[in-house]
Amino acid sequence: MSHVTAKTLKEGTDFEKKHVPMIECKDTVKPNEIYEVKIHTAGVEHPMEDGHFIQFIELNVEEYPLLRVQLTQYAKPDVVVNVKAPNEEHVGRTLKLVAYMFCNLHGPWKYEKEVKIQ
Ligand SMILES: [Fe+2]
Repeated sequence: MSHVTAKTLKEGTDFEKKHVPMIECKDTVKPNEIYEVKIHTAGVEHPMEDGHFIQFIELNVEEYPLLRVQLTQYAKPDVVVNVKAPNEEHVGRTLKLVAYMFCNLHGPWKYEKEVKIQ
């Protein structure tokens, strides 16, 4: 996804809220902890119908790809994944989770959330 410029925002219009991939998870985690990360639209449901739907959701940790889920109009654009925190050598570090949601008509959208290792 580094070749595209995604739109990033925290608050916005209903149009923006149905495309931005909100990340929900803990703000701090322990080393090696398995924690749940949810990705979903930012408060307004996106249509999932013929000709207009979310094609994929992607989650990266920093610049490293963690997962990519392909979707069609027959799926709900929500993802829940269990992520493993880095080991003790990373205590005190802050990781950036980066989510992308790609609409077939409205392109890529981006959201970032920081998670601290402690
Ligand atoms: Fe859209």
